[in-house]
Amino acid sequence: MPILVTGATGTVGGSLVRQLVAAGHDVRALTRDPASPAAAALSSGVEVVAGDFARPHTLAPALRGVTRMHLVAMDGYGPLTTGAEILELARQAGVRRVTHLGHNDPSRADDDPIEAPHRPLHRAVENSGLEWTHVFPGEFMANTRDWAAGIRTEGVVRAPFGDWNSALVHEADIAAVIVAALTEDGHAGRVYQPTGPDPVRRRDAVRMIGEAIGRPVRFDELTPEQARAHWKDHYPAEVIEWFLEMGRYPDGNGWVAPDVEQVTGRPGRTFRQWAAEHADDFR
Ligand SMILES: NC(=O)c1ccc[n+]([C@@H]2O[C@H](COP(=O)([O-])OP(=O)(O)OC[C@H]3O[C@@H](n4cnc5c(N)ncnc54)[C@H](OP(=O)(O)O)[C@@H]3O)[C@@H](O)[C@H]2O)c1
Repeated sequence: MPILVTGATGTVGGSLVRQLVAAGHDVRALTRDPASPAAAALSSGVEVVAGDFARPHTLAPALRGVTRMHLVAMDGYGPLTTGAEILELARQAGVRRVTHLGHNDPSRADDDPIEAPHRPLHRAVENSGLEWTHVFPGEFMANTRDWAAGIRTEGVVRAPFGDWNSALVHEADIAAVIVAALTEDGHAGRVYQPTGPDPVRRRDAVRMIGEAIGRPVRFDELTPEQARAHWKDHYPAEVIEWFLEMGRYPDGNGWVAPDVEQVTGRPGRTFRQWAAEHADDFR
């Protein structure tokens, strides 16, 4: 019976598919566009099926004959609002176990403007009648790929808060936690928060990318006002304000959780390792 991976063409989903295939599992990958280059790049043994969360009934072919699925909380750029409907369709189709990759900041209230759109899905997962596992990672190492164009063309990263400290997490470690929750017993009802093993300051991440590509990368620190202008065409306004608010707490994201090592039995990968593996993205 295949394991259904949604978000299979994405950062975490891609690693999840590779790890499940390597472990000998049959994988069915969901995408809105099976003809896209990202879908075509999925491993040859993977069954690729079309479906769109925005129209839950389109998931019927993907859910057929599936008892375990991974749900990424995405609808285009925004949070997934059709989650309850998708989970009910999954339950009716015979799905018994779901892993949910999403966003949560437990220190913020349900009516916080950033958190509010995510919380109904958390409750829908918990009330789905399925064996569920939430996976709420820290900041992804892969977010630094947003710097790739500036590094390739000018050798520069322009961003605010050079001292911002974050326990950046490798996508393969998030995926490894999900593999465990999908394929082993004992993870139902758990909330995992994968982080990296060491907090990394933003200016140090820039330096480590330079070391990985073999040439120095300059860090130009922006003021919050300059950052607003720099990001305005790339992120929604409320997300920009959230990024800027986080910068007021330079050590706020530096908390290292034990979850990756506890769940997978291996320490999390470092940012230096991630940068070496992804150096070509920045060359
Ligand atoms: N980035 C971070 O620092 C961070 C931190 C904590 C939590 N997260 C969470 O991580 C998740 C994102 O993971 P990621 O970065 O691996 O994703 P990603 O690389 O941005 O890829 C998004 C995936 O979602 C799929 N998708 C988007 N809209 C869809 C729709 N309407 N129907 C079906 N599939 C759809 C896309 O598939 P197709 O395009 O092929 O259809 C793609 O595979 C989000 O839940 C986010 O809240 C991220």
